[in-house]
This record gives sequence, C-alpha cells and structure tokens, in this order.
Amino acid sequence: MTSASLQNSVITDISLAGEGHLKIDWVEAHMPVLNRIRKQFEAEQPFAGLKVTICLHLEAKTAYLAKVVQAGGAEVTITGSNPLSTQDDVCAALVEDGVTVFAKYNPDPSEFKALQIKALETKPDLIIDDGGDLVTLLESERPDLAATIRGGAEETTTGIIRLKALAKEGNLKFPMVAVNDAYCKYLFDNRYGTGQSAFDGIIRTTNLVIAGKTVVVVGYGWCGKGVAMRAKGLGANVIVTEVDAIKAVEAHMDGFHVMPMVEAAKQGDFFITVTGNKAVISGEHFDVMKDGAVLSNAGHFDVEVSKPAMLERSSSVRTVRRNIEEYTFKDGRKMYLIAEGRLVNLAAADGHPAEIMDTTFALQALGLKYVNDHYNELQATVVNVPYEIDEQVARFKLESLGIGIDTLSEEQIKYLDSWNA
Ligand SMILES: NC(=O)c1ccc[n+]([C@@H]2O[C@H](COP(=O)([O-])OP(=O)(O)OC[C@H]3O[C@@H](n4cnc5c(N)ncnc54)[C@H](O)[C@@H]3O)[C@@H](O)[C@H]2O)c1
Repeated sequence: MTSASLQNSVITDISLAGEGHLKIDWVEAHMPVLNRIRKQFEAEQPFAGLKVTICLHLEAKTAYLAKVVQAGGAEVTITGSNPLSTQDDVCAALVEDGVTVFAKYNPDPSEFKALQIKALETKPDLIIDDGGDLVTLLESERPDLAATIRGGAEETTTGIIRLKALAKEGNLKFPMVAVNDAYCKYLFDNRYGTGQSAFDGIIRTTNLVIAGKTVVVVGYGWCGKGVAMRAKGLGANVIVTEVDAIKAVEAHMDGFHVMPMVEAAKQGDFFITVTGNKAVISGEHFDVMKDGAVLSNAGHFDVEVSKPAMLERSSSVRTVRRNIEEYTFKDGRKMYLIAEGRLVNLAAADGHPAEIMDTTFALQALGLKYVNDHYNELQATVVNVPYEIDEQVARFKLESLGIGIDTLSEEQIKYLDSWNA
C-alpha cells in the first residue's frame, strides 16, 4: 500500500482488504483478454505520467480494470457509479494496491455525489464513466474541473444517450469513446451478461422459483433480449412489453408473448425493467398487479419502476429480506421491490460474470488508449470504438477460448469485391 493512496482515499474500512484481494484474484484468473492487455500496457506504458479517474460499479472486475490502467503507467483514482454496487472490501484492496478510492457502500445521496466530485478534483487527464455521471457533474456543477481532460470512455447505453444529447447542444467538452456501442460490448455484456446476472440477483435475493411463473420483461433491447432468453431457459412464461414496433415483432418471432404493459401487469409474477426510460411501470400498472408481484430493474437508473407511484398507494413499507422491500398497498396487496429499484444484477449480486466483463473492459482499456493517442485529432463528441479494436478484442477472446476460425481465400475476397464474378 502507498501511504498516499491510504491518506487520500475515502473508504469504509481498510481492514477489509484481504477479502477484496481474494475477489480481485478470482476475476483476474477469469479475464484472459484483459491479462493480455495488461502485459501489453506494462511494456508500452501508454498512460505514463497521466491521471485517470474511473467511475464504474465498484466491484472486483472494475478493480482489475483499474489495475490494468495503472499497469499502463497511470495514477488511478476511482469512485462508484451506484451507491449500492460498491463493495467495501474491494475498495480497501485497491487502496492497498496504490489506487486512490473515493467510494463506500450505500452512502447517502449527498455523500455519494461528494465522493464523485472528489474523484474529479484530482484533475484527471482521462476518464472512464458509466451512465454519464462524471460528465454530468462536470457540466452541471464543476465545469472548472473539465479543463485538464483529454477525453474518456463511456460504458453504457444510458450514458451514451446523455453524452449525445450534451454533444448536440455543443456542450460536450472532450471526445468520449462509446464503448457500449462496440459489437464486443452490447452483443455479450448487455445480452448475455445482463441476462444471466439479473437472474443471479433475483434468485439469490428472493430464493423463489422461476419455473412456471410469468416473467414480464419490459424493453426488448440488447439487455431485454438476454433477460427474456434466460427467463425462458429457467422455465418461465415470458411476456415482453415494448414501444418499438420492430423490437416487438422481433420478440414475437423469438417466441414471446407481446402485449401492452397494462395487460402484462395483470399477469406477471416477476417484472424486470430494462429500458433506460423512466416510469415504465407506474400507477395504472400497480393498480392491476397481482398480490405478491416481485419488481426489479436492470436498466441503468432507479427510475424505471416508479417508486413515487408505489409509495402513493402504500400504507406501509418494510424491509423483509436483505435487498427486498415490501410495499403494503392500502387495498391490502403486497408488492416486493428488489434493491430499491436499482440495477438488480449489481445492487443485489456481483454484476456480470468475469468472462463477460473481460471483453467489455478490454474495450474500455483499449478505448481509453485510443482516445489518449488521438485526442488532438478527435472532435469533442461521441466517438465510436474503431472496428479494428473491436475485432482485435474478439480475436483475443477466441484465442483465449482456443477457438480457431477460417480466413477468406484470395479468390473469395475477389468474388466478394466484384459485381460480375
Ligand atoms: N444491468 C446491467 O448490467 C446493464 C448492462 C448494460 C446496459 N444496461 C442499461 O440497461 C438499459 C437498457 O440497455 P439496452 O442496451 O438494452 O438498451 P436498448 O436501447 O438496446 O433497449 C432499450 C429498449 O427499451 C425499449 N423501451 C423504451 N421505453 C419503453 C417503455 N416505456 N416500455 C417498453 N419498452 C420501452 C426501447 O424501445 C428499446 O427497445 C440502459 O439503461 C442501459 O444503460 C444495464
């Protein structure tokens, strides 16, 4: 541990570090692509002398990404992107590894924001953001801290929507690489990662059976497709609700029931929102829900299930298990909300599997290197991950799996390039 990282950090308890190191060692052993990039970074030192501030769900996989960026020569500061997804033992281990950490499990909203601001006050050259938290703070509260920033990388769908809106107003101050929009991100992380880990959170929190139940998946984007696929695999009857006609047809062709939310609300035992939108389950839906319905959200913010509408209808709210709140409605029905409606896979479980975050964080590491190598040429806007980087991550992944693929012959290349061959 460096005394500077301990002195500067704000965490819950440094004595928890032992457990945190074990968690980080476990994910490191299951992230071969990132291990390879770490070796490359150790040799090339792409971030030598630079400060990097990371704002992500602060659990073991993220901690390992921080260590990979650090191995590339950066002085790394990290903060959490959700009050309930920060793991205190992982924070302590990172401090021992020389990373400055501003994060605690479940701080109150003002402390949560204060910790993020502290992470920006280190005046970073580069940032990694999730849901646009850091960029939003810079824009709305501390524009003075944006001056040193060359650029950064954004993790998720919701963040990219926000960054694009900011860029459209001409207010994004530096280039941000849209990691979420790379193939090796959304095809695997949003779909298979969210699909598996959302159920990990629901099952470990409720200890209830999924088979034979009706699961309502709200939103059939990349995350929704994964959640619906896994619900089907667990033996549920799956209903999908959508607002996009094309996605609704896709859900129908994939074998799911599709209907408006107000109809689905009457039938669901479990509800999982994955829209990136607000109040997708709200008053009129609660009014027709079955007694005992279990509600959860895997979208980025805790606004998808309308808590104000639940409270309005409730005579009492109590915690009945860790991460489950029981809302007793005035008409006697009980509704159960997991993890306060925050991302169920991160607030009530450990997030995506390590092998999934291996490719996502490989894109983060290489995306950050890309923005640093090219920040002088890039516009202050949302930038795609170059296809070569996306493909390189896929090739590293295949190699780590021991899977070979074919290559095009010269004759095939010519054939595919011609119109009359
Ligand atoms: N839990 C996780 O670990 C995790 C991982 C990746 C992304 N996310 C987050 O999950 C959310 C969804 O991400 P995505 O990549 O699937 O986005 P997406 O844009 O691919 O899909 C969102 C879908 O929701 C639909 N939708 C919007 N409003 C709706 C409404 N009122 N009712 C029904 N459907 C509605 C849209 O039409 C779209 O098809 C985002 O907030 C994203 O940041 C979470």
